[in-house]
Amino acid sequence: MHDTTMQLRYLSACAIAREAGDLVRKRFLERDGALKLTLKGPQDYLTETDGDVERLIAQRLAAAFPGDDFFGEEGGGAYGPNVWVVDPIDGTSEFARGVPHFCVSIAFLRDGKVEIGVLYDPMRDELFAARRGAGATLNGQPLRVSSIDDIEHASVELGWSSRVPYARYATVHARLHALGAGVKRRGSGALGLAYVAMGRQDAFCELHINAWDAAAAILLVEEAGGWVSDFLTAGCLEHGNYVIACTPALRDVLEQAMAT
Ligand code: IPD
Ligand code: CA
Repeated sequence: MHDTTMQLRYLSACAIAREAGDLVRKRFLERDGALKLTLKGPQDYLTETDGDVERLIAQRLAAAFPGDDFFGEEGGGAYGPNVWVVDPIDGTSEFARGVPHFCVSIAFLRDGKVEIGVLYDPMRDELFAARRGAGATLNGQPLRVSSIDDIEHASVELGWSSRVPYARYATVHARLHALGAGVKRRGSGALGLAYVAMGRQDAFCELHINAWDAAAAILLVEEAGGWVSDFLTAGCLEHGNYVIACTPALRDVLEQAMAT
């Protein structure tokens, strides 16, 4: 019974992520080209679509699983033992500026552990999905992290936000560069993590990222054989945490590079 409900949650999360992503794509393609940018803070964008998509996801989940809690980036919510943690658009700055690199992120957590993680990139029609203990897939095909074990050959995404003093970011960036990593930043932490799960890059690191951005995607990396730092520690759901996600062999060197 328990497992059947979890499977239903998994299938529902996939279907809802696709439906939500279709709305995101429609809004992206309908843009009239006029830049009407709203910011929640420095370099922290908000669009009408974020709120609309979050409400759609919340309604669908409430109808299907009325006993579960819901927490979304835009509208907040409640955290209980069974909670959905949702980012309607991760990569909002890219969405707002007309760059097709963003996704819908839906995680289901039980007792503080991610059980289901689903991301949908509507512009590439890529559905990333994982269930704890059952592997991770991209459009139904199994995912595996890359076999890169040498930082000099590694492609590392280093996320950035104005929530962390620039000097700390600059220090980590300089260390990674000195180690010989190919350092990049694309603008969606969730997709950055998913790209580690599928081997498009070998690591994603960020000094502070929120739970709604990363919760779904860290399960993808774990289920694809990668290593992820202990992200969902006490207080993370409310306040976020640092994250390192990488191929197992890169763990030590990246932990040193990210150390304060
Ligand atoms: C941001 C993106 C970005 C990451 C930031 C997030 P948003 O989320 O994931 O890549 O570096 O930490 O806040 O604003 O696009 O939802
Ligand atoms: Ca977001």
